[in-house]
Amino acid sequence: MFRIIASSLRIHPSDGGKFIQLPERYYKIMVNPEQYVSFDKMCKSNVSHIISEFAKDLKNISGKCMDVGCGPGDITRDILLPVLNSKATIIGTDIMENVVEYANKTYGDNKRLKFEMLDIQTKKLPKKYISEFDHIFSFHALQWCNDICQTFENIYCMLRPGKTMLILSIARCKALYEPMEIMAQDIRYAPYMGDKKKYVGSFHYSARPRKELKELLEDIGFQVHHCSHREMSNCTSTEIFMSMVTSQYTFAFLDKMPHNLREEFKNELEHMFKEIKVKQYRDRQGNYKLHDEEKEMNIPAAYSILVAYAQKNVS
Ligand SMILES: C[S@@+](CC[C@H](N)C(=O)[O-])C[C@H]1O[C@@H](n2cnc3c(N)ncnc32)[C@H](O)[C@@H]1O
Repeated sequence: MFRIIASSLRIHPSDGGKFIQLPERYYKIMVNPEQYVSFDKMCKSNVSHIISEFAKDLKNISGKCMDVGCGPGDITRDILLPVLNSKATIIGTDIMENVVEYANKTYGDNKRLKFEMLDIQTKKLPKKYISEFDHIFSFHALQWCNDICQTFENIYCMLRPGKTMLILSIARCKALYEPMEIMAQDIRYAPYMGDKKKYVGSFHYSARPRKELKELLEDIGFQVHHCSHREMSNCTSTEIFMSMVTSQYTFAFLDKMPHNLREEFKNELEHMFKEIKVKQYRDRQGNYKLHDEEKEMNIPAAYSILVAYAQKNVS
């Protein structure tokens, strides 16, 4: 799945379009849908859980649906499609071309399921999507959208009047977002990473994420039937989590780094992730001391999710 490119001269948008001379060597393209599929057990479990919670609302949905930020398509086909009415169709959309290609090849069926490219933050929503959808899903994707207003406005625009969306987005994840924010300002990594805001979920620093999301959706025009903020602790293996996270779009900057720097970055991120995860655990446990290194493996990283089920106004 790895593609190889041999360019040594790149233009980096975050650097005001200046040329950055990268060392003469080969770079691997790492945004990797196959890798994501093999490490997305935690995401599958979260989606299955939410889907069963909203099963009653979903089972009568027929017509056209979209899965925004669908990734490789396994969850779209294996978890979402089966819960809908058998007449329902789904278009999975994602910002990454290679992810969409992989999804079409592996899971597309030309009848009920296909995949297309869409940046959900776009200011120019393609006409073909406007007021077209009976239901829109999005799981584990919207946290990477800085322009969260534009994102939900686009979802609103794509729904037909009276139709619904169900979303799950990561709200807080201190062990990932805060090291990423620091590293984006580090002189070694900054030229590759660009704006540090890209790496911190839109609700990470919110004092009241549930209230803020609900108000945002209502301002756009949604009728909010459900909005909750939930603490999660099902992410135990740092290695699996890192492999899953770094195989997606937000980490595409890794492809531009020379091998040594990329390894340095990954080691440093993993180290900080473990440190924060253990510290948060100790704080929760009243400063419980870990007896040996092995125990780190069993400690879950704390993160939280936002779940919303909302309806576009009828008029
Ligand atoms: C963590 S994966 C989630 C995949 C799947 N929905 C799941 O629950 O496992 C996030 C996906 O969102 C996509 N993504 C990130 N930013 C996006 C954007 N602005 N528009 C559309 N997709 C985006 C990424 O390419 C990636 O495939």
